[in-house]
Amino acid sequence: MKKILITGGAGFIGTNLALKFVKNSDSAVIVYDNLSRKGASNNIDFLLRQNFRNLEFIRGDIRDVRLLKTAVSGADCVFHLAAQVAVTTSVEEPVEDFEVNAMGTLYLLETCRKYAKDAFFLYASTNKVYGDLSGLKLKELKTRYVLADRTNGITEDEPLDFYSPYGCSKGSADQYVRDYHRIYGLKTVVFRQSCIYGPYQHGNADQGWVVHFINQAMAEKTITIYGDGKQVRDILYIDDLMDAYLRVLKNQNKCCGRIFNVGGGVRNSFSLLELIQYMEEILGKKIEVDFKSWRPGDQKVFISDNTNLKKATAWKPRITKQHGIKKLIEWIKENT
Ligand SMILES: NC(=O)c1ccc[n+]([C@@H]2O[C@H](COP(=O)([O-])OP(=O)(O)OC[C@H]3O[C@@H](n4cnc5c(N)ncnc54)[C@H](O)[C@@H]3O)[C@@H](O)[C@H]2O)c1
Repeated sequence: MKKILITGGAGFIGTNLALKFVKNSDSAVIVYDNLSRKGASNNIDFLLRQNFRNLEFIRGDIRDVRLLKTAVSGADCVFHLAAQVAVTTSVEEPVEDFEVNAMGTLYLLETCRKYAKDAFFLYASTNKVYGDLSGLKLKELKTRYVLADRTNGITEDEPLDFYSPYGCSKGSADQYVRDYHRIYGLKTVVFRQSCIYGPYQHGNADQGWVVHFINQAMAEKTITIYGDGKQVRDILYIDDLMDAYLRVLKNQNKCCGRIFNVGGGVRNSFSLLELIQYMEEILGKKIEVDFKSWRPGDQKVFISDNTNLKKATAWKPRITKQHGIKKLIEWIKENT
């Protein structure tokens, strides 16, 4: 049996990942989470209610080195998803944010080095490590900004520019994870993820904007847009992200020690205004919107160039943005 450790396993991405592995009887899955995220308790209750024999839950903090040792020892795969995830919270609590995201990752890497040196280790980093990208040339169209010189999006060669405490803490962790491959030979992979959306996500105004917008619209509440709404994001449905995780796991020889951008790509990009317009079409109603000033480090456009991941694993996003949004709306209707 393979021992799979998922830190932050009661979160949005972690719950989806745990569900993938528990269905395989060859895997023993450990979900490690301190349940600090609103909604994480609902996710873990849901997972535990299924009575999977191969699922264990450890309620613990990523900074608890002793408890980490128990969770990590003998692991074959470690998916490190536990994090303080909101830029806004990081601005209010930068020390706590650093302790969880940067130090927590370092504690986990060290524990793996000592007790699970051969484990495959995937870290969920973020496109925020590229900063606000304000140096890039943009064109302004009626509903969106467009990158003038990066028609396929942003590659991993874009210079790092940590912006906001969240950018700094996640970026430090991103570099440590990479370096633990170079210095200690750990089998690490870094995913710089764009906006991911799907079931079991408890989005709010600070993080998880796609599901937050849908929830607001369905509850007839006003959506607040920070900036002018023309900012563009490539969105990736969770099933496509899960497919990418499993493909790098299978193709470790080509992927370990590497960093990959992963997102919906050009075809799955929406500006906020365009997403709202699309939701108005499928929900068949007008959505109220108000505007506030830009938030720190906000990129006007982020679109992931997925070429390297595609070359290494033959992965590409399969669920279109239109289909993904419809699937998520259906899921919300059935589950709330
Ligand atoms: N969802 C996205 O769009 C997205 C994009 C880029 C990167 N990421 C990264 O992916 C990872 C997972 O994101 P998510 O969307 O599932 O977020 P999430 O908030 O749903 O999940 C994170 C989980 O970590 C747990 N956690 C927080 N602090 C902890 C601590 N100190 N110790 C143990 N557990 C702790 C939370 O309770 C939560 O269940 C995060 O590292 C995030 O930075 C997510």
